[in-house]
Formats: sequence, structure tokens, C-alpha cells
Amino acid sequence: MPDLSVSYMGLKLRNPLIVAASSLTGTAAKLKRCEEAGAGAVVLKSLFEEQIEVQTAQLEKEGDYGHPEAADYLRQFGLRLNQDQYLKLVKDAKASLSIPVIASLNGVSPRGWTAYAAKLAAAGADAIELNIALLASNYEHNAADIEGTYLKIVQAIRAQVKLPVAVKLGPYFTSLPQTAVALRRAGAAALVLFNRFYQLDFDIEKLTLAPGYHLSSPDEIHQSLRWIALLSSEVGCDLSASTGVHDGAGVVKMLLAGAKTVQLCSTLFLKGMGRLQECLKDLEAWMQRHGFAAIEDFRGKMSQEASPDPQLYERLQYIKVYVGLE
Ligand SMILES: Cc1cc2nc3c(=O)[nH]c(=O)nc-3n(C[C@H](O)[C@H](O)[C@H](O)COP(=O)(O)O)c2cc1C
Repeated sequence: MPDLSVSYMGLKLRNPLIVAASSLTGTAAKLKRCEEAGAGAVVLKSLFEEQIEVQTAQLEKEGDYGHPEAADYLRQFGLRLNQDQYLKLVKDAKASLSIPVIASLNGVSPRGWTAYAAKLAAAGADAIELNIALLASNYEHNAADIEGTYLKIVQAIRAQVKLPVAVKLGPYFTSLPQTAVALRRAGAAALVLFNRFYQLDFDIEKLTLAPGYHLSSPDEIHQSLRWIALLSSEVGCDLSASTGVHDGAGVVKMLLAGAKTVQLCSTLFLKGMGRLQECLKDLEAWMQRHGFAAIEDFRGKMSQEASPDPQLYERLQYIKVYVGLE
């Protein structure tokens, strides 16, 4: 049998499949199910800085406290409320799982909330995944301001913990290679490429906003695949693939591109946790067919750097000769 074990941010995983942050990883019982189904590691659902602020604002609205210190107290209270539940999730997960448990924090500012990273470390988390997503919708902010905020958040978290920190990003950067290297220098041990964001839609009968479909399709693999292939050999930190991986072939592709681990989410919602075993079996069968005994024997074999035609990885426009449709 091939050896599927990998090292990710210095953690030893029995295989490269990680159950991504979502409601699939939101309770200790669900996390146990992930482990039993064969996951190499789990990323807990995120604790959101934004969500904490909303809850606190709600508390403030409900009472007339009329004093800034009272509001301050409430803010602390709101933080503690969520934080305590989340710390319990980390502790419960660590008590019952033997695979690595990665806590996930979502932040939009480098403010005081970053101190909670230390508590996650004390609760036993093996690593932290930082989910940072700043929508560039403000006309006053230029790209350097926005990217600077990403770096400050990572530095603030790194100042709190020695644990490995992964940064989960969306795909919208003008120069992703520069941002990726800057994040690594700021202390990121890994980058997760890419997050898939909440989709906005309109209800044209009610004239209201509506949520778009929340799960990915296998067609969405290409953006992450391209960027992992482009970055994996030079970025200097581990890469974890996310978005659009729905089967064993998708897992193989991401590893060939150079990913250390592959995160699954939508396919597990659609097909159930049994999908993990199917992906692992397909990965093993593929490795056997190709004579690979271990993941490192083929990881990155199809990265841009390993390719005799590196320029093909940078092709953005459709040209007759490549598409063959015209
Ligand atoms: C219902 C749902 C909840 C999610 N919650 C989180 C979350 O709390 N934190 C996070 O970083 N990503 C979250 N995600 C994004 C997933 O972790 C993943 O990156 C995304 O779904 C793309 O991967 P996929 O194509 O395998 O679904 C969520 C996704 C879904 C569908």
C-alpha cells in the first residue's frame, strides 16, 4: 500500500485530506465523524471577529447603558461569550481526536481580538488557520493599504503564538506572488488557496438580496490549481488547496501542482463523509498505477517550475489552437 502520510506546517498527517472550516467541523461530534471517516486533519469552523462585533452591537441595542465603559464591558462580554464556546470546541476536539486540530479565526482588523490566538494555543489547538477577507469596496483605500492590513493581522497573531499559522485567502490580488511571499515573511507557515466566499444574489420578484448557491462545483477547481502550480516551488511555505476539489482526481491534481494538503468541503456536504474514503482509495489506486510509493514522490511534479513549457501555465486568453472550438 502506498504511504499517504504528509507533513503540513510541521504537523504530521496520516494523509493529505483535510475537512475544511464549515458547519461540518462545528461540533465535537461532527469532528469525531471526520476522523472516523479518514480525514488527515480538521479545520474547525471559524470564529468571526465580525460576528463577535455584531453580537456585541445587538447586546448594546437591547439595553440602555448610556456609558462608554458599559459598552466596553459589553464588548468584552461579547468576546468572552463566543470565545468560551469556541475554546470548549477546541478542548473537546483535542480530547477525543488523534488527528491534528486546526482552529480557524476570521479577522478584518489587527485589533485586540488577536489576543485570543494565545487562548486557542492554550486550549490545545495544533495550528491556527487565519481566514482573512477584505473586500476592496472603499474608494479611499489603495491596494497597498489593504494588503498591509493582511500583513498586520498575521503579524499580530504571530506575536501571540508560536503555533504554526496558515492564512486562507481569496483569489483577488493584483500580484498574488508578492502578497504570498509578504505573508510568508510576516510569519505564515502555509497559505490556503482559495477561500470561496458567500455569493450575493438578487430576488427579482421581492426586490431583495438573496444568498447565492453556497456549494462549489468541480468546475471551480481551475483557479486554485493554476495558482498552486505557479506558486508551489517558490513561495517558501506550504500550500493547502481549497475550492472545487470534489473527487480523487481533484486531489491528485492539487498534489501534482505542489499542494501539501487538500481541503474538502462542498463534496462532503453533497456526498457525505464517505466521500473521504472514496477520495483516499482513488488516490491510492492512482499512486499504484503510476508506481509512486509516497506523496513526496510526485508532489509538485506538474508545478510550473517542473514543466518543460512553463509559459502555458500563464495563458489567460483562449486561442484557437489550444481550445479547438473555432
Ligand atoms: C456552509 C459553509 C460554511 C463555511 N464556513 C467557513 C468558515 O467558517 N471558515 C472558512 O474559512 N471557510 C468556510 N467555508 C469555506 C470552505 O471552508 C471552503 O473553503 C469552500 O467551501 C471551498 O471549498 P469547496 O469547493 O471544497 O467547498 C464554508 C463553506 C460552506 C459551504
